[in-house]
Amino acid sequence: MPTHFSQSSNSLDSFAPRLLDWFETNGRHDLPWQQHQTDTPNPYVVWLSEVMLQQTQVTTVLPYFARFMDTFPTVQDLAEAEWDTVAEHWAGLGYYARARNLHKGAKQLVEIIDETGDFPQTLAGWEAISGVGPSTAGAIMAMGLHRYGVICDGNVKRVLTRWAAIDGDITKSATTKELWALAERLTPRESSGLFAQAMMDMGATLCTRSKPACLLCPLQDDCLAHAQGRETDYPVKAKKQPKPSKFSNALLIQSVDGDILWLQRPDNGIWGGLWSLPLQFVEKVDGKASGKMTDKKQVANDDKLLAVPSDVRSNEKIYEAEFTTAEQIIHEWLAKNELVTKSISNFLLDDAPIKHSLTHFHWYLTPRQLAIDATKIVELNGKLSAAEIEFKWLTAQQAEDSLGLPRAMGKIIEG
Ligand code: ADE
Ligand code: SF4
Repeated sequence: MPTHFSQSSNSLDSFAPRLLDWFETNGRHDLPWQQHQTDTPNPYVVWLSEVMLQQTQVTTVLPYFARFMDTFPTVQDLAEAEWDTVAEHWAGLGYYARARNLHKGAKQLVEIIDETGDFPQTLAGWEAISGVGPSTAGAIMAMGLHRYGVICDGNVKRVLTRWAAIDGDITKSATTKELWALAERLTPRESSGLFAQAMMDMGATLCTRSKPACLLCPLQDDCLAHAQGRETDYPVKAKKQPKPSKFSNALLIQSVDGDILWLQRPDNGIWGGLWSLPLQFVEKVDGKASGKMTDKKQVANDDKLLAVPSDVRSNEKIYEAEFTTAEQIIHEWLAKNELVTKSISNFLLDDAPIKHSLTHFHWYLTPRQLAIDATKIVELNGKLSAAEIEFKWLTAQQAEDSLGLPRAMGKIIEG
């Protein structure tokens, strides 16, 4: 047996007996969905309650569970119910996707029961049901069927990271694997249902998020976080990443008459089907988001930077991966002709970008200008036409009046 756990085999072996002893005298035995005191467990009840308890506390779930059992006493009742009725019973529990999955799951279960005569009997069988993840499936196997099942939900992760001082980020799959391996090592073959219920109770009543009651805990003697006095430093969980930022130049390619080149964007991707100036996604190669508003003050206060010509921007690199075909053609044509776009104003803070927030990122758009003569226009038109690109030469006003422009484009040409 490899000893890659931070706890001794004595500690690992005595974990379950200690926990079960504690559960017998101090745990909750009167929760309406518990099946450990019957020889004929009802998997419907465990499935229903586990889905309800996924993101909601016991005290909140209790009245909802009672109403569900009243109206839908069997999985067939739930499967046959109208969605509106289910939704009405769920209202207030939040996370409506869970209710949708529950209703869909009921239909899947009824189908399986009609085919096989019974609820799924394997872990994989339960994991195939909508809304049932590995831990819920383990809970149903263990508590709802009295078979073998392992749980490793948020409560279990909190207890185990503390007890074994596991300091890996629990949102990382390596840490998840380590925790599942430990949960499996600790779960007794013969009483995994009792063990699962005991772990849930421990996590909910003793080893709580902010004030663990270590003095009452059956794991206190060898709990590594407790020994370090660092209980609440576990579990380690990476902060949600803030929205990433993307930076683009928006090219105002202009004729001497003031016409500007407009492209229709491809149907898929950002601004699908809308008209826009050609864009150049740029990467900030020094890793600093220098297009961000916050950095401007810094630049403005740094006199030395005033000497830098505004169209020399050594910290950025054109990011070709996001080019559309048209933008790629324009980019190559500009490079071949050694044409350089310029900032709109001569002012240092030319690249006061226009900030535009989309679902998955903030977008900073910086207008860049280039005037080209009639010969060049004919040449560029030829390249674009050859590639069957949709484009138009229109003044800013004409474009605003006649094209479907994204709001950010309006801001650029007005500003
Ligand atoms: N949280 C998730 N499942 C639970 C259960 N069966 N009892 C108490 N808390 C829970
Ligand atoms: Fe949690 Fe404290 Fe028990 Fe450790 S000793 S498992 S931190 S309650």
